Amino acid sequence: MEKKRSSFTGKLGFVLAAAGSAVGLGNLWRFPYLAAQYGGGIFLLVYAILSVTFGFSLMVAEISIGRKTGLSAIGAFQKLNKKCTFIGYLAAIVPAMILPYYSVIGGWVIKYLVVFTTGQADVAATDGYFEGFTASTGQSILFFSIFLAITAVVVLFGVEKGVEKVSKIMMPILVVLSVGIAAYVCISNALNGDWDGILYYIKPDFSNFGIMTVVAAMGQLFYSMSLAMGIMITYGSYMKKDVSIESSSHQIEFFDMGVAFLAGLMVVPSVVSYSGIEGLNKGPGLMFVTLPKVFNDMGPVTGNIVGAVFFVLVLFAALTSSISLMETVVSIIQDKFHIERKLTCLIVLIGAFLIGLPSALGFGVWSGVSLLGMDILTFVDFVTNSIIMPIVAILTCIVICYVIKPKAVIEEVEVSGKFHLKKLFNVMIYVAPILLLVILVFSVFEAFDITFGGFLKF
Ligand code: PFF
Repeated sequence: MEKKRSSFTGKLGFVLAAAGSAVGLGNLWRFPYLAAQYGGGIFLLVYAILSVTFGFSLMVAEISIGRKTGLSAIGAFQKLNKKCTFIGYLAAIVPAMILPYYSVIGGWVIKYLVVFTTGQADVAATDGYFEGFTASTGQSILFFSIFLAITAVVVLFGVEKGVEKVSKIMMPILVVLSVGIAAYVCISNALNGDWDGILYYIKPDFSNFGIMTVVAAMGQLFYSMSLAMGIMITYGSYMKKDVSIESSSHQIEFFDMGVAFLAGLMVVPSVVSYSGIEGLNKGPGLMFVTLPKVFNDMGPVTGNIVGAVFFVLVLFAALTSSISLMETVVSIIQDKFHIERKLTCLIVLIGAFLIGLPSALGFGVWSGVSLLGMDILTFVDFVTNSIIMPIVAILTCIVICYVIKPKAVIEEVEVSGKFHLKKLFNVMIYVAPILLLVILVFSVFEAFDITFGGFLKF
């Protein structure tokens, strides 16, 4: 049941919508803690290189497939070749796996928004506050449910347009506020002669480089740019023929990387100045542990105001992303089973709640559960980002190289003008699957702690 395709009005419309899906918790919450964990400056460098080469090529490829076929992931792969339909299904599983735990983090954002709007910056800044909150069963479930319910209501009533409009205003404010907070953090660190954190984040230290730096950066790239999960194929299917795929991809990439970089600049130097380099290993809680301390230092009134405004903006960035995640899942189920939209939304809501529950409880009553040494949320995150997405990306590249041939993508890009980085694309599309395969194998080794007697050091 193919709905009539509407299109984005123009390039700006396309870029903003795609950036709205791309910029979210991945940039603000996930990027800083990975950068902190995987070597700081060297992670930044690896991420930037992968983004402009590999990320760019895959983005161009996905948008082109979407625009060429005029269909979303499953239909698009099917149209390219019947035998490839399974890739579409594999890609479609990813949003269904991400949505539940994405909503757990979204719940944390709502909790902090409540804390700051009720003037409790000093409470949020106390040591152990975040751990206490996430350990509480009632609170974790409550805020996770609120976030999921808001997402479902928007998808159910089809008011995405309204949210998108608001977020088009919110996003630029988020960028401005982030620049302000990052500047505040850096200047106050510099005035105290405290350069360690800033240098750790900005200056690549090659002794911190390891294969896991590449694994983590690649997983983050997919997640953050909404790649290898069929999303950009769907967006491409709505794109008009006269809009440039190449320059749109550059802009999305630039916007996405910019916000991630700023988020790291707010978080990483602050962690180092509050708790030293050892503090960087906080994992998923990093943003929620550090930023409240930064806000609290601004004084009781300013701190609560800046904190509240910041978390409202983060909430909007998170919502635009979670809405596009849920929308994708709903439309796939609807197309496949021809179920009515309201019922589908309800099924997805209940499903996401049940699937997300273990992730929400993994920091409290189920904190004893350790999957390959990870808490439940981190484990689900690992499986989607470091296993399934690389597989989808490898298969997508293989389809392009050997089924439709790179020429098909190039022709689609050239419909709207010259393809400036054609050579890069032609090389990357063949190199990428090999690189991805190596990365995939290493990440599995790492997860199972296989080091061949120390031969492989992660
Ligand atoms: N790219 C989003 C982020 O960085 O937060 C996550 C995401 C949103 C992935 C929407 C996929 C998607 F459809």
